[in-house]
Amino acid sequence: MSDSPVTCVVVDDEASVRAVVARVLEGAGYRVFQAGSAAEALRLLEREHAHVELVISDLQMPAMDGAQLLQRVRHRWPHVGTMIVTAVSELKTAVELLQAGAYDYITKPFDVDEVVARVRQALDKRRLVSENRSYQLHLAELVRQQAVRIEELFLEAVQMLVQALEAKDAYTRGHSARVSAYAGGTARAMGLTDGDVEVIELGAELHDVGKIGVRESVLLKPSRLTEEEYRHIMEHTVIGAGILAPLFKNAPQALAIVRSHHERLDGKGVPDGLAGDQVPLYARVVCVADAFDAMTSGRTYRGARSPKEAVAELAANAGSQFDPAVVEAFVRAHEGDAKRLPIVTPQVVRRRLPEGIAWTPVGAG
Ligand SMILES: [Fe+2]
Repeated sequence: MSDSPVTCVVVDDEASVRAVVARVLEGAGYRVFQAGSAAEALRLLEREHAHVELVISDLQMPAMDGAQLLQRVRHRWPHVGTMIVTAVSELKTAVELLQAGAYDYITKPFDVDEVVARVRQALDKRRLVSENRSYQLHLAELVRQQAVRIEELFLEAVQMLVQALEAKDAYTRGHSARVSAYAGGTARAMGLTDGDVEVIELGAELHDVGKIGVRESVLLKPSRLTEEEYRHIMEHTVIGAGILAPLFKNAPQALAIVRSHHERLDGKGVPDGLAGDQVPLYARVVCVADAFDAMTSGRTYRGARSPKEAVAELAANAGSQFDPAVVEAFVRAHEGDAKRLPIVTPQVVRRRLPEGIAWTPVGAG
């Protein structure tokens, strides 16, 4: 606050009354503007509102009355305090105005000391209100900063998990980031929202985190896996969901990606044997991205396939393993080598799906 005097506006249609109040307040050290009507007061505030701290208005005035004026002032310039001048007979209305937010009222005829005391009180109240308001604003900013920090910590924790996995398994190095990029592109091609895309990218980044819990002899085995070893490696879906559950309390859909990215449309996947629409959509998106990257990166016992071969494989398994609408969106999002994709219609998919599995194409076309 500056040292300049506190500024008040006195509004009254009777010049003599206005002058009395103004003189009393000026005597107490305040700077006073006078207005002969509500309209004049509003014009004045339009110009001077940055300096005005209090509007003291008569209740009964022609055209716009004091109650309407104070309501407008509070709405337009909430930092300006308001007071009513009223005859004793209007006290009921004065009380109603107090309930509506006016700080106080002064009764006519005036007692000079009382006027000054009431104005001082109203200004004190106004100061408290505005301090409280700036405290609230400060608090809101603080909460916002904390939320940003919590999100940063969360993403750092996620990065640590991915790094821990990649340190253990050379194959996953870069795999998580690539799958995340493929899945994000596919989700966008399906017309999903930015929020959906973000969740899918996050879930994709973490989809294999559960491999931290897979025996290295199995995880790093250079030759084909036995059935028992394959089952063990596939436990990474459940292990990953278990590791992330406490961290992902607020992102159940990302968690579903981790658990369900090896489910199949025909119900023959792991870990839950979900079928058709039961497989979470986000997991279906990541599943296709994951398979494409697995095929094109190649493991030690099997050479990498070309993107074109990989897409042909995706298309051949659309409807049984993969969601055809997702495969179609994946190809659309990553066109280039993969242009000649066999067309997979919903009718073909229904023929491939075992009886009784519901499947609704999402975002295709
Ligand atoms: Fe996986």
